[in-house]
Amino acid sequence: MQRIIEITEDGSHTLYLPELDEHYHSTHGAIRESLHVYLEAGLHHCHKEEINLLEIGFGTGLNAFLTLLDTEKSGKIVRYTSLEQYPVSIADAEQFNYSKLLDPSKEEIFMQLHSSLWGEWVEMTPAFHLRKLQMDASNLDNFQPETPFDVIYYDAFAPEKQPTMWREEIFNRLYTLSNQGAVLTTYCAKGAVRRMLQSAGYQVTRLPGPPGKREILKAIK
Ligand SMILES: C[S@@+](CC[C@H](N)C(=O)[O-])C[C@H]1O[C@@H](n2cnc3c(N)ncnc32)[C@H](O)[C@@H]1O
Repeated sequence: MQRIIEITEDGSHTLYLPELDEHYHSTHGAIRESLHVYLEAGLHHCHKEEINLLEIGFGTGLNAFLTLLDTEKSGKIVRYTSLEQYPVSIADAEQFNYSKLLDPSKEEIFMQLHSSLWGEWVEMTPAFHLRKLQMDASNLDNFQPETPFDVIYYDAFAPEKQPTMWREEIFNRLYTLSNQGAVLTTYCAKGAVRRMLQSAGYQVTRLPGPPGKREILKAIK
């Protein structure tokens, strides 16, 4: 699968997939979008000291990296499970400019997010534990995590590009796999997605989006 590295409007990289004609992030700013949708609306909603977090789509590792950096400020512990079917290559990861833009002293740890083993827990820092699972997240029937989640970053490709990732069964399963009060956020504010989240049982609010996006969704169990 061909992937092209592009620069978004805030100077940070994203990937473009010609096959799907789809970007991994908003072209108006990858870092800006991730901070807005996943850290501010999602992670910061959770007031627990130890947080079980699930990400759908590890991709460039940007959300994971921002979350790791956040634990250094918040003092919280995050156990971060990320599901990904098509991991990016180490050669691509070496070119991403996230650590250069965010904290050049963290280049090595950013690369460790990518090079760490799949399928098991790895302590990246005392406060950030990562478990990457290479699997098809469009069917979560056999996904049986040992602890329920507090925060979910739902970061799949857009419904028009990958409809199998936006099905009622998935949101029902995520609801079951979450703690009471857990939050799920996504950049996608389509009415059909909002209704699927609502019918799974979530209380859904539309929040203002990052530049280039009118609204995002925040769903609370
Ligand atoms: C919008 S991008 C994710 C961006 C990522 N969170 C980041 O910060 O770079 C969507 C991700 O979902 C992954 N993906 C696509 N189909 C998948 C599937 N069936 N199961 C799991 N992951 C999938 C893609 O490979 C891609 O990494």
